[in-house]
Amino acid sequence: MSNWIDVAARDAVPADDVIGVEVAGRDIALYDVEGELYATDNLCTHGRARMCDGFLEGHEIECPLHQGRFDVRDGKALCAPLTENLRCYPVRVEGGRVWLAVE
Ligand code: FES
Repeated sequence: MSNWIDVAARDAVPADDVIGVEVAGRDIALYDVEGELYATDNLCTHGRARMCDGFLEGHEIECPLHQGRFDVRDGKALCAPLTENLRCYPVRVEGGRVWLAVE
């Protein structure tokens, strides 16, 4: 069963931007894309770079280190040098707070 955790105020995620949050010992990236929220692992699957330091354009986050791109909706790796997708987490907004489901 999913375990929903309150991770941030909704207002803490700026419009069309990404922030990093620590949830249950995990480093997670939270994205706002046109008012919708998405969450993935923050650490790139290719190297030691964090998505929250990357560049978000539409639904694509570009890694700051080698410019690999992922789709924030499903974590899919979209181009070289990436070979592994990012893990995604279910997100919901309730009472002005952002909740994430982590196992
Ligand atoms: Fe992210 Fe290389 S560390 S693309």
